[in-house]
Amino acid sequence: MLVRKIKQSVGQFMANAIESPSFTHKIPFPIRHVDFKFDGESFYDNFYRNAELASAYVTAMSIFLTYGEELVIETARYHRDLVTDPILKQRVTALIGQEAIHSKVHNAFNDQTLINHQYPVRFYRFLAENVFNYGFHRFPQPLKLSLMAGIEHFTAVFAEFAMKHDTEIWAEQIDDKTKGLWMWHFMEESEHKDVAYDVFQLISGNYSLRIAGFLLASFTIMGLVFAGAVGIPILRRPLNIISPRYWKDVTYSLKVLWNPRNGVFGSTVGHIMEYLRPDFHPNDHDTTVYLEDYKEKLLNPETGLLIPYFTKEFMPKVQAA
Ligand SMILES: [Fe+2]
Ligand SMILES: [Fe+2]
Repeated sequence: MLVRKIKQSVGQFMANAIESPSFTHKIPFPIRHVDFKFDGESFYDNFYRNAELASAYVTAMSIFLTYGEELVIETARYHRDLVTDPILKQRVTALIGQEAIHSKVHNAFNDQTLINHQYPVRFYRFLAENVFNYGFHRFPQPLKLSLMAGIEHFTAVFAEFAMKHDTEIWAEQIDDKTKGLWMWHFMEESEHKDVAYDVFQLISGNYSLRIAGFLLASFTIMGLVFAGAVGIPILRRPLNIISPRYWKDVTYSLKVLWNPRNGVFGSTVGHIMEYLRPDFHPNDHDTTVYLEDYKEKLLNPETGLLIPYFTKEFMPKVQAA
């Protein structure tokens, strides 16, 4: 009975007319190639607000997000073929390109910086491969698309948070490459924040399915990634477990993550939960001004932080349907 119902809903999903609303007003975004040539030399462990556990959350994210991005790429490729609107199709191609480069560059950071600093990258990759290969990758495509839209909601929330709090979230000792990596990634997550959602709404639009993907994304990002973060300071320095200094940091880090004024979760929980609104859309949050500010900081030819590492950019063509 349940299997028949699932089959019916998958069939319905595939059969839905993919006649698109207009996407002509959307601002196109390019695929940027960057090469930070990470060496780990000036990397500062507590780069996120001088907080060890909070910084570990960000590094755990760097390791695990590459798997989320592979899932996003695979799911986006599959659904691109179901989209007939040439502009949305082009936006999906640009999203795939941006995510592919995020994954590649984060893997370089993980290999060339984190491994040199005794982060458990290989062990966490082993864990993530099992979760993704035996779990998420086996989901039916409609659920994968919903999960993808949920993941993209979280990255859009984090990007908006980072752009709003840019001057206060990084420790002074953060090196340009680590800072540039995260700023560039946040800028692009904000640029493409509506693509997965638009595709989901166009192809499915099923509210319950959308929320199922959101719950899975919440469990992954706030549960699994956080569990990974908790392990990092202990695996790197086992004596942390009996160190009063470390436990003081735990209190401070939890404040850094959860305080309602500028905590990455504490100040964004309302934004995260907006996804539950039936009429939610990622562009309800207009981030144009923040995005322009980040582009100036990163891409100004004279002063942009990204310029020394920027190699080229490419705008996929809009192809007639
Ligand atoms: Fe990304
Ligand atoms: Fe993304």
